[in-house]
Amino acid sequence: MEEKKVIVITGASSGIGEAIAKELASQGHPVVLGARRTDKLAQIKNEVEATGGQAAYRQVDVTSLEEVQALAQTALTEFGRIDVWINNAGLMPHSLLIDAKVDDWNRMIDVNLRGTLYGIAAAQPIFHEQNTGHLINLGSVASLYSHVGGAVYSATKWGVKAISESLREEEAQAGHNVRVTTIYPGAVQSELVSHMTDPARREASQQFYDQFAIPAERIATIVSQAIAMPADTALNDIVVRPINQVQ
Ligand SMILES: NC(=O)c1ccc[n+]([C@@H]2O[C@H](COP(=O)([O-])OP(=O)(O)OC[C@H]3O[C@@H](n4cnc5c(N)ncnc54)[C@H](OP(=O)(O)O)[C@@H]3O)[C@@H](O)[C@H]2O)c1
Repeated sequence: MEEKKVIVITGASSGIGEAIAKELASQGHPVVLGARRTDKLAQIKNEVEATGGQAAYRQVDVTSLEEVQALAQTALTEFGRIDVWINNAGLMPHSLLIDAKVDDWNRMIDVNLRGTLYGIAAAQPIFHEQNTGHLINLGSVASLYSHVGGAVYSATKWGVKAISESLREEEAQAGHNVRVTTIYPGAVQSELVSHMTDPARREASQQFYDQFAIPAERIATIVSQAIAMPADTALNDIVVRPINQVQ
């Protein structure tokens, strides 16, 4: 490996975040894991270290700016810098608007949207001080389309797209050598569907995922490629789907 990068990942306790952590750690990058379930984070740290990698973790609820900033501080304390910050924590409890599942709406807004903003708020000043950095946000194909049952999830992921694009322009203008990458996955195997609160939608989504979803390691491969680009080049927007997923 040419260069070791310190990589912070939110939502690292399962699915895409876990796969990214393991893949990048296997390439020699120190990884800093954030999520609420510390038993899972401790297990992943142990697995990374058992294979010769470096990892640290901290319990983080991304709806708290203070906790997200503490995650950044953990990275600085353990490894001295942050090269890549990945805003990955998210949830997708689909439902019809008529069902007014306000708690689910608020959790998606808090985690998917506010959590992404808090990650930017924690990482961006550090990147400016270092005069380099890389912000990676997890959008979704739901950032590009909206369907029955997906109104609020899509609204949050469209928001992630909007924030990413403004951030990219602001960083390019500021000239601090900060790259911005947004990844827009289709169906990927993870715990995402299992946390859906509407039983009928969960079952329908599970059937779709059982048929089409690709392994989370595919997203880890994309992240690996994005961070390996030469420092003067940014992979900005990447849509990745199962080959037979229509939208
Ligand atoms: N799987 C897909 O098909 C797909 C497609 C497009 C985009 N995405 C996006 O990919 C990202 C990762 O999702 P996934 O598919 O890997 O699902 P997942 O397996 O359910 O992982 C979600 C992660 O987010 C964390 N999380 C949830 N709420 C949190 C909070 N308040 N604070 C901190 N961490 C929190 C969870 O950890 P704890 O529960 O331990 O906190 C978990 O590690 C999400 O942003 C999702 O929208 C997924």
